Amino acid sequence: MTSTSSSPADVLDCWQHYGASSNGPRAVGRLYWDWYQRMGPGDELLGDLAGRTVAELGAGAGHQAAYVATELKAAHVIAIDSSAAQHSRSCGFYEAVPRLDFVHDDAAAHLQGHPSSLDVAYSVFGALDFSDPQALLPAAAVALRPGGTLVFSTLAHYRTGAPPETECRPADIPARMPDGSPGTMQRWVLESTVWTTLLDEHGFDLIDSDTVHDPGPDGGAPMAASVFRARRRSPHVL
Ligand SMILES: C[S@@+](CC[C@H](N)C(=O)[O-])C[C@H]1O[C@@H](n2cnc3c(N)ncnc32)[C@H](O)[C@@H]1O
Repeated sequence: MTSTSSSPADVLDCWQHYGASSNGPRAVGRLYWDWYQRMGPGDELLGDLAGRTVAELGAGAGHQAAYVATELKAAHVIAIDSSAAQHSRSCGFYEAVPRLDFVHDDAAAHLQGHPSSLDVAYSVFGALDFSDPQALLPAAAVALRPGGTLVFSTLAHYRTGAPPETECRPADIPARMPDGSPGTMQRWVLESTVWTTLLDEHGFDLIDSDTVHDPGPDGGAPMAASVFRARRRSPHVL
């Protein structure tokens, strides 16, 4: 099943060319949370998903969401992406996968409209990197049941090697516009302490966090990813 909202289609789709390199279904084998998708923690961060409803926030071409539905046996996986190009790509690759639905919407908008519907939400350099966490985290808190888990990976520093922000503010990073011309889009690259404060402010208890350092493959830059796991606090606990 797929569903589409009207709002994201109005936004310039900076993911049209990025996702074009994803040219078919891809067996991911296990979940990776790191930049080069080759080391660090894996599936265990999501816990036992049997009988659970799970959402991926910024699912891109849908590779990880298809893996979560087929191999981790979640009861229902909702792969949300605001890019029309990425949404259409993921539907084309994985529409036949049982228990996996694709939603074309801004993640915060979708989550706000589905209170207490999720057991687990996760993001792999997805919506939490590219939209304001001060809107997305409260929306995730609305959609997750108390005790539900949020897991996400995000850049621990800029791709240039520059240090992360010490406050919750985005930077303009290079992007390709739909017509192929150079442009920019916003990315939130934040220090770990900024993320932990944001999680606390928006109703989450940190379970654990990790930084995965990769020296980089041949010709690739060293990259570090921060991985956070947090539990939706009961609304009755201040
Ligand atoms: C770098 S890609 C990562 C995709 C996927 N997680 C992966 O690892 O292949 C980021 C994705 O997040 C999506 N995205 C960015 N902001 C979003 C938002 N506010 N709501 C939903 N999706 C969003 C983009 O459209 C893009 O497909």
